[in-house]
Parts: sequence; structure tokens; C-alpha cells
Amino acid sequence: TSGAEIPAKKHAPTKELTQDDIKFFTSILPANGLIIDKEDDLMPYNIDWMRKYRGKSRLVARPKTTQQVSQILKYCNDNKLAVVPQGGNTGLVGGGVPVFDEIIINTNNLNQIRSFDPISGVLTCDAGCILELLDGYLAERGYMMPLDLGAKGSCHIGGNVATNAGGLRLLRYGSLHGSVLGLEAVLPDGTILDNLSTLRKDNTGYDIKQLFIGSEGTLGIITGVSISTPRRPRAVNVAVLGFNSFQNVQKAFLTSKDELSEILSAFEFWDINALKLLKAHNIHGKKFPLEDNYPFYVLVEISGSNKSHDDEKLQNFLEKLLTNEIVTNGVVAQDDTQITSLWSLREGIPEACSKAGAVYKYDISMPVPVLYQMVKDIRIRLQSAGVLGEDKLVSDVIGYGHIGDGNLHLNIVAKSYDPKVTNLIEPYVYEWTEQHKGSISAEHGLGLMKADYLGYTKSPPMISLMKQIKQSIDPNGIMNPYKFLPTQ
Ligand code: FAD
Ligand code: MLT
Ligand code: ZN
Repeated sequence: TSGAEIPAKKHAPTKELTQDDIKFFTSILPANGLIIDKEDDLMPYNIDWMRKYRGKSRLVARPKTTQQVSQILKYCNDNKLAVVPQGGNTGLVGGGVPVFDEIIINTNNLNQIRSFDPISGVLTCDAGCILELLDGYLAERGYMMPLDLGAKGSCHIGGNVATNAGGLRLLRYGSLHGSVLGLEAVLPDGTILDNLSTLRKDNTGYDIKQLFIGSEGTLGIITGVSISTPRRPRAVNVAVLGFNSFQNVQKAFLTSKDELSEILSAFEFWDINALKLLKAHNIHGKKFPLEDNYPFYVLVEISGSNKSHDDEKLQNFLEKLLTNEIVTNGVVAQDDTQITSLWSLREGIPEACSKAGAVYKYDISMPVPVLYQMVKDIRIRLQSAGVLGEDKLVSDVIGYGHIGDGNLHLNIVAKSYDPKVTNLIEPYVYEWTEQHKGSISAEHGLGLMKADYLGYTKSPPMISLMKQIKQSIDPNGIMNPYKFLPTQ
């Protein structure tokens, strides 16, 4: 573990699992819905995707129905047993794994599609459905999921909602706060909140579902999701471009808003250090399709309904960039295989980073003009401390992310999670973010990693109100303790 944010000891609720508790779980769930005290089988649930956080849970419960989730939570609440909700365990902030021996309630078996309305495009499904499978189901019906991310093959829609995941096309389809129409959630006392509305408009009272979107398992377990899905575009194309400066990346973004406007569906960037890692770890598996010495690369995606019209717009956009000397080199996909291949470059960066070593991941939202400055400043800081370089503690500082959303992913690759490195980066990164009026979590969430740093982005009255909400919904504090809200 990284060490810095792990609490030294448990706080309430601290009850440990007993034989009576195990008896209860075996009475509720079939054998394939439970893992108890089998260390090897428990391991993938106890460790996070980055292998940075590791808990010691003795029990994973995998309920198949909302009723079972309700019975389990009620029991845990009555007996003051702490729990961690878990979906696909692809979270990047240590939110989905236990800190100590909390019980893991995993949504793997809550995996049924409940309904789909082909006229409105509203999908209703269990929380444990895998994002990519949902998208495949919709593709057969001419629709698509409004969000897409590199973890789509493993992450669950419930986990996406719980983290308010952003992803690769937020600039086009908006956040889950807009596309989620209804939720079914189980509160810690077992109450089932059935708010699986499929309505686009519903102004009746407080919009409770919004509280659960991005609540990271601290208020209850999401068991069902209704989501508005867009029509699948008939014409999609992708270009990857090389840039000499971040200034030109910004100019290209502005040009894309003018020239591509309504068909623009992604505008992603990465720097040369990210490209080096992709190549070193052979993530792409093919020859990089353009010169590899540009400091910055951008992937632009267009999605529309008329291929010749859309291709013409893309051509005009590229010509404008060339005429204005904003870009000098680029490649446009010629077919669907090339589209997938170009996307795999961008989507492969998190894996390339994690193959390179222990990754310190920061997910900052800020005004686009200052977005890359943070990467430069942190490089200078680590260099002057003498820890950055080939055989040093830190081997790489990488910047990539979602330009369209003002979202930088700063990744610092180290030999190991070392307090010396941690102390050089934190709280520096958070202070930097606060000074530039940014957010310390654009899309990954707070989890365990950033719970104690919330004050860099939210004011004391707002944190106090958040704590009151938490207290009123989860008075025993059984839901995902140590995460999300500051301990002090
Ligand atoms: P988990 O990791 O299992 O859990 C995440 C959090 O949600 C935890 O706090 C957990 O307690 C809670 N939770 C999970 N399920 C429920 C539930 N049913 N009810 C209540 N709480 C629940 N994120 C982005 O935003 N954009 C990206 O582009 C992106 N790309 C990624 C690419 C890769 C390769 C990887 C590994 C991760 C990426 N992520 C991204 C982060 C991660 O995939 C998302 O946060 C995802 O939404 C998590 O879903 P999950 O099912 O894996 O949740
Ligand atoms: C991404 O945009 O690739 C994801 O948010 C994952 C990451 O930052 O590593
Ligand atoms: Zn991202």
C-alpha cells in the first residue's frame, strides 16, 4: 500500500466476523454467492486494480437479488458490521477494497437487463451489468451507452454511477448526473429505495438519486439503474495528430469546436512520455502510425449520421489546422479496425503506466490553459529533489487526459510507493490545484486516497453538510468507512 492515507487503526464499527455472522450469510446466499476465509479466492477482491491498496476481508458476498442485498445490509447494520460495496474493482482511488476486514458486497451476480424501450432509448438494468456488455446489447438495437472508458470490459454500471465516472465521451454525452434517470438503491438499514424512474422530466421533490451518483458506496448499495441512451451514430471516424506545443493543442481544440461542432465526440490528449511507455510495454502491439517525436498527441473522434458530410467536415478541420500551422502531422483512420487501433493507443495508457511501476495517479480538473503546467511543475520539483531519472526513485512523469473536459491525468511512475516520493508530491499537487481553482477529483472520486484532502476543493460548510447527510442515512457508519469524507 502507499501508506500515506491508511488509518493506523480501526474506528467504529469495529466488530469482527463471528461464526453466527457466517451462519447468517450462508442462510441467505448459495455457495457460489459467498467466499469465506479462502485467501487465494479472496485476493482479487481485497486488492485494487493498481495493486496499491490491500485489505484483509474474510468474506465476499455476491447477492443475486435486491432482496438479498437488503437482508444482508440490514443484518450488517443491526450487528454493526462494516461493509464495502464493490463492482468490477477497477476504481483508481482505493474506494472499492476494504481497509481492514470489512465485508465485501460485490455486484457480480446482479447482472440482468431488466428492460429496454426502443423508442425513448431508456435502459433499465441491474447494477452489476458490465459496461461493455450493456453497450453490446444496445448496439444490436441501434443504441449505445452514453459513457465509455478503458475499463469497460470489467467495470459495472453500478460502479460507474457510484463513482460518477466520466470517461472518453463526456464532452458529447454529458455526465451521469444528466443521463441517469432513476436508481434503485438499498439503504444501510435494508430499506429498498425504488426510484427506477424512466422519465426524462420529474420535478417532484428533492432529486435523491443525484446524492447516490458519485457517493462511492458511502450511503447505500445501488442495485438498479435506469439510463437514457443515445442513438448509435452511423458514421464515426478518428484522427490522431501530433503537436509541437500545448498551445497548439488548445488552438486545435478551439478549431474543433468551430469546424466539427455537433459531430465532435472526443478530444483526448497524451504527451510523449505516455507514448514512450505505450511503446516500451507494447500495449498497442503495432507500429505507431505517425512520427513519435512530438511532445503532444491528440485523438479527435467524430460521430454523426452522414459519412460523406462528416468526412468532409473532418477534412476541412484538418486543412484549417495545416493552413494555420497548428499541426504538421496526423493520421486518419480508414476503416473500423483502424478506429479501434487508434483508440487502443489512448485507452492503453493506464495499463502502460501500471506496467512501468508503482503509479501515483492524480485526476485533476482545471481550466484548460493551465492544464499541462502542473505536469511541468511537478517534473521540476522532482528533478530538483534529485529523485527523477532512469535509475532514480521516480522514472516517469506522464500527462494525458480529457482536454474537452479540462481533465488532466497526472501519473507519476515510481519504483515503489515510497513515503519520500509521496511527501514530495502530496500535498503539493493538491495545493497547486487549489491555487488554480481546480478540483482534486475530476472523475475518479475520493475513495481512501483523497478523503482527507477534500478540504482543498470543498469549503468547511459544504463538508459539514456532507457529513450530516452521511450521518442521517448511515448513522452506524457501516458503509465504506475511512473513504470519501475526511476523518477529522
Ligand atoms: P469499483 O472499483 O468496484 O468501485 C468503485 C467505487 O464505487 C467504490 O467506492 C465502491 O465502494 C463503489 N461502488 C461500486 N459499486 C457500487 C454499488 N453498486 N453501489 C454503491 N457503491 C458502489 N474512470 C473514469 O471516470 N473515466 C475513465 O476514463 C476511466 N478509465 C479507466 C480506465 C482503466 C484502465 C481503469 C482501470 C479505470 C478507469 N476508470 C475511469 C476508473 C474506474 O473504472 C471507474 O471509476 C469505474 O466507474 C469503477 O467501476 P467499478 O464497477 O469497477 O467500481
Ligand atoms: C483515463 O482517462 O484513461 C482514465 O481516467 C484512467 C486513468 O486516468 O488512468
Ligand atoms: Zn480519465
